[in-house]
Order: sequence, then structure tokens, then C-alpha cells
Amino acid sequence: MKKLIVANWKMNPASLIGARKLFSSVKKTKAVICPPLAYLTEFNYKPLGAQNCHWQESGPYTGEVSPKMLKDLGVEYVIIGHSERRIYFKETDEIINKKLKAALKAGLKPILCIGEKTGENSEKVIINQLKEDLRGISKKDLPKVIIAYEPVWAIGTGDFCPADTAKKIRDFIRGKLNNKVLYGGSVNSKIAGDYTGVGFDGLLVGGASLDAQEFVKIVKNV
Ligand code: PGA
Repeated sequence: MKKLIVANWKMNPASLIGARKLFSSVKKTKAVICPPLAYLTEFNYKPLGAQNCHWQESGPYTGEVSPKMLKDLGVEYVIIGHSERRIYFKETDEIINKKLKAALKAGLKPILCIGEKTGENSEKVIINQLKEDLRGISKKDLPKVIIAYEPVWAIGTGDFCPADTAKKIRDFIRGKLNNKVLYGGSVNSKIAGDYTGVGFDGLLVGGASLDAQEFVKIVKNV
């Protein structure tokens, strides 16, 4: 099955010119590109993803964007519950659960990020996040949620979780849910194929997605 490679640009590149340049070098990959919201309408491209959304369709929520607004722009995927949102923006499992339901209702494909912090028990954290984040999602909608296993300590640190260790968590998740599972956390082109080799359905790539050459190699190597 075709692997799902997702580029999470986060709040990068710092300029529109930079974003256009990066886009022009990676558009042939056909990976899911998740640029900052401000650049979403710049690229006539499929598939696009957003990095976040609100849970309401509209209303007095200054600075927010609804799943339906994203859908209307032609966006297909949305990252929900990224650890940076959980940590810096205080997103709770309850908020993430509402966002997931709203994204599904709008017809977006949510990518739910889960994973432990340094020193935490990964299985315990994952069980709890899955239980809370997916609470009340219908049997029909549940398979549409893509899970991204992203150990927090591996994000942006260069300290990736080795594929054989990550595989244990992937298998643990698949023991609970039959959903697609991606790996994320300091992925680079040298190790990208290891994760898909042990059964991951794809990758969520942060830092390396900002380096066009490296990102193209990642897509080639899986
Ligand atoms: P990283 O980020 O590849 O820079 O570790 C991954 C992510 O945050 O999704």
C-alpha cells in the first residue's frame, strides 16, 4: 500500500518567498504538505493539510479557523493534538477530542498525534490519549483517524526513536485499533525507510520537510 508522507512545516518558512521556493521544490513528491495557515491558499496543490483547527463551525473565536473553512479551501488533512499544541497552547485531551469530531464532521482526514514525554511510560500514555482523544467517535468515523506516534522527546531533537523500538508501539496501537499509524520524530532520509519497513503506514516529518533535497529523498526512500 502507498505510504503516507506528511510534511509538517510548523511556523516555517519565515517568508512567503521562502515558502514558494520550498513548495516548488517539493510539489512533485505528492506528499501531504501542511504549510502554515497563512500560506494555505498560495499553493494550488493536492493533498494539502492544516496544522490545527477549531471545533466550532463559526463564532466569536478570534484567531481561529474552523474545519469547514479548511475544507472549503480544498484542504484534505488536519493535524490534531500535536505535542507543540498540547504543550505551548495547553490543548487538553478534551479539546483534542472536540477537534477530532469537528474535523470528521467537516469531512477532513484527521492526523492525531500521540506519544510520551521523556520518562513517561509510553504504553500508559498512549492508552490514555487514545481513550480520551477518541471518546465517543462513531464506529463509522473511527477508521478515518490517522494516528501519528510521535514520542515528544524525539521531536526536533535529532534523537529519533529507533524503528525496532517504535515498531513495538506501532504494534501496541494496532492491537487496539486497526487504523493507519505513522511515525514522527526526527525522521531523516537515512532512517525513513526503516519505519515503513517495520510496518508503519507512513511518516510525519517536521524539520527535514523544510530541506527540499532531504525531503525528496525521504519520499523516495520509503
Ligand atoms: P521533527 O518534527 O521531524 O522536526 O522531529 C516532527 C513533528 O513535530 O511532527
